Amino acid sequence: MKEVLATVLENKRIAENIQSLTFSTGEVIPVRAGQFLNISTGNGVHLLRRPIAVCKAEGENITICFQLKGEGTHQLALVPAGAKLSVLLPLGNGFFVKESEQKVALVAGGVGIFPIISVIWEYAPKGKQIHSYIGFRNRSAICCLDELEKSTALTVTTDDGSYGLHMNAVQAFVADMDRGNVPDVVLSCGPTPMLRALQAAMQQRDIPCYVSLEERMGCGIGACLVCVCNQTNGTHARVCKDGPVFNAKDVQL
Ligand SMILES: Cc1cc2nc3c(=O)[nH]c(=O)nc-3n(C[C@H](O)[C@H](O)[C@H](O)COP(=O)(O)OP(=O)(O)OC[C@H]3O[C@@H](n4cnc5c(N)ncnc54)[C@H](O)[C@@H]3O)c2cc1C
Ligand code: FES
Repeated sequence: MKEVLATVLENKRIAENIQSLTFSTGEVIPVRAGQFLNISTGNGVHLLRRPIAVCKAEGENITICFQLKGEGTHQLALVPAGAKLSVLLPLGNGFFVKESEQKVALVAGGVGIFPIISVIWEYAPKGKQIHSYIGFRNRSAICCLDELEKSTALTVTTDDGSYGLHMNAVQAFVADMDRGNVPDVVLSCGPTPMLRALQAAMQQRDIPCYVSLEERMGCGIGACLVCVCNQTNGTHARVCKDGPVFNAKDVQL
């Protein structure tokens, strides 16, 4: 993990309420799919950095995509090219696909699509068969289709049916699995109700399933215990340090 003073290269709106920000770290810092970073918002008033998944890492350049939510992300969306931001990275464990796992299902919704794009980015060039099931609220929330289309197969759903299939990403994935399209491993990120539905659907099946959790965070490096989640064995885990990726069987959602 390193703290760098990154230079903003581009900061632009890519969908309703969604911003894409690319910065240069000035050096190549290896980042695994599913890892995240902690980024300052460009305003000294916000002392805590914000945790955001790494979407793409290309040489010295890193792209993150984020929803405009509260004060911090609205502030971050205003930072101009050329400005400097303090960034702590890489954080967390990330997603890991084993050699033996050839067919990978990605199930994501909402801002959960951004860490999932990093999986496509890392594993598609390694020859993995990637089947992505991606849920958006509606047509105006759709973004990053060019990145998602680098999957071997892509299914897009919307909650209101305004684009793609009129269902959610978990329903599309389970329907495909029931038709015989069974993956070797499932990787997922999205709102807790979505992860809960996936966890329930995978309970009776002997397929490894990993979920990336999103908790409110303070330090992002395992020191403050703001981000603990409950594990099924009765213990607690820190989402920032022990996760954010967990075996779906190990966490209470
Ligand atoms: C590991 C991880 C990866 C994430 N990746 C992404 C991503 O790729 N794209 C994206 O849009 N969002 C992502 N989030 C959520 C993002 O961190 C919050 O939306 C953001 O911190 C909100 O900050 P704010 O100042 O705009 O909102 P406010 O609500 O004003 O934030 C107040 C405080 O609460 C914290 N906070 C609020 N919501 C969250 C949240 N959901 N998770 C963690 N802390 C929160 C903030 O960090 C801040 O300290 C991720 C969260 C985690 C934990
Ligand atoms: S955010 Fe401080 S321990 Fe996880």
